[in-house]
Amino acid sequence: MYPEVLALHSLIRWCVVASLLFAVYRAYKGWFSKKPFSKFDNSVRKWTATIAQTQLVIGLVLYSLSPLVNYFLHHFKKALPQREIRFFGMEHAVMMITAIIIITIGSIKAKRKSTGKEKYRTMAIWFSIAMLIILSSMPLPFSPPPFVQRPFFRTF
Ligand code: HEM
Repeated sequence: MYPEVLALHSLIRWCVVASLLFAVYRAYKGWFSKKPFSKFDNSVRKWTATIAQTQLVIGLVLYSLSPLVNYFLHHFKKALPQREIRFFGMEHAVMMITAIIIITIGSIKAKRKSTGKEKYRTMAIWFSIAMLIILSSMPLPFSPPPFVQRPFFRTF
């Protein structure tokens, strides 16, 4: 089951990145062009949060299955100096959970604002912060140290 969940997690990250980039683009566009907050933008807000929360659930399942994390949790002292193990055992999980909490709070706050301008502004700010955290902590084939390199895609 571990390889399948890892491949799914690797794939869904592109949905997270694409939906977040699109939501940030729509939010800044709406904010600066002073448009009313459309039904479509409301769906973009909701779906971006839902996709990120789905990735959170898959990430937590992967965390419980990963041999790297298992080693990290059971050999904490020996694992700490090993970059790849520490990254997935601690840094990646903490950064991504933080980012998804920020997306969730931003989405709820935007929903509660009364004017279109405030909704766009709230979405733009909270989602941009989350996007920076996600892009910085997402392993890619060219990620420099202290980050970890991983492929763009994985086969099931
Ligand atoms: C926006 C959120 C997230 C993104 C974009 C993301 C992205 C990624 C990527 C690209 C990989 C490498 C996959 C591969 O090896 O092909 C990975 C691995 C991993 N992620 Fe995430 N992740 C996110 C959230 C989380 C969360 C919330 C957790 C757990 C709390 C988590 C736990 C893990 C673990 C344990 C691995 C590595 C497992 C291993 O190699 O054994 N991720 N993630």
